[in-house]
Amino acid sequence: MTGFTFLPDEQHDLDRGELRELVARIAAEPDRWRSLVCHGGGERHFEQLVRDDHVDVWVISWGTGNDTGFHDHDVSSGAVAVVEGEVVEERLVLDGAPLRLHHRAGEVFDFDAAHVHRMRQDSATPAVTIHVYSPPLWRMGSYAVAPDGALERRSISYAEELRPAEATR
Ligand SMILES: [Fe+2]
Repeated sequence: MTGFTFLPDEQHDLDRGELRELVARIAAEPDRWRSLVCHGGGERHFEQLVRDDHVDVWVISWGTGNDTGFHDHDVSSGAVAVVEGEVVEERLVLDGAPLRLHHRAGEVFDFDAAHVHRMRQDSATPAVTIHVYSPPLWRMGSYAVAPDGALERRSISYAEELRPAEATR
């Protein structure tokens, strides 16, 4: 991680425990990422803090109503630290209401590549989250429900902004 000497010189993909530890360490050093926070644009704002062969790190600023839609992270595991405000995470449940978790400032959560979720910011107060992924995000899956009710997955680049996907037909 050239230029980020506070990070270990990892030479392998990180597991969930290592990702949690890393994101907590970054969250505790706001001087490293505070300049990337951007509120007020209406849409979710994301900035890549660093990317190497094994991990990428993002700073995401959330406004009221911002919503990723349901998605997966392809082959990556991840960990998220909430550093300001609160976000809502939902897990899709077939034939039932989504499982809903509230993640508040100071909390960290993690997931592996099997995880399908949606993140939203529903409160009036802006939120900021730090995300680390390993291996680095390259593709993601974005989910939509077609008019006939069938679930569809669309493979998207990590550089495309996640938002609730429209049905494709
Ligand atoms: Fe995600």
